[in-house]
Amino acid sequence: MITLARTAILTASLTLLPGVARAADTAAGLAKAKEVCQACHGLDGNSPTPDYPRLAGQYPDYLSKALRDYKSGARKNAIMTGMAGALTAKDIDDVAAYYASQPAALARKY
Ligand code: HEC
Repeated sequence: MITLARTAILTASLTLLPGVARAADTAAGLAKAKEVCQACHGLDGNSPTPDYPRLAGQYPDYLSKALRDYKSGARKNAIMTGMAGALTAKDIDDVAAYYASQPAALARKY
């Protein structure tokens, strides 16, 4: 009985902790990338032009921090402020996980 109560309490507290209970959803991230980001960053995160940073293979926490910073105004860029402002916290985690999971083409010199 005590074990059961402990399990219930543990389950309840994990459900309440954002980021612990829910893993990022890369399929939802792909859908968001297709809808919004691919025009500049490419669908696989390897932007075709040097004007737009490559996101493929970047650490997911770097990407999500950058997006949260654009959204809050801590990082300023006219284009990305608008893009990040339209994302929910879940969108940010999902799209960051999606781009982080893509193979980077940064070192493809030869
Ligand atoms: C209209 C073009 C455009 C679109 C669409 C766009 N971005 Fe960007 N993005 C940029 C530019 C330009 C920068 C560089 C801004 C800067 O210098 O801070 C950037 C920077 C970023 C960065 C920071 C990269 C780094 O290395 O620090 C992230 C992360 C990012 N974008 C994610 C996204 C996501 C996710 C989407 C879709 C929701 C998106 N962007 C849509 C143009 C765009």
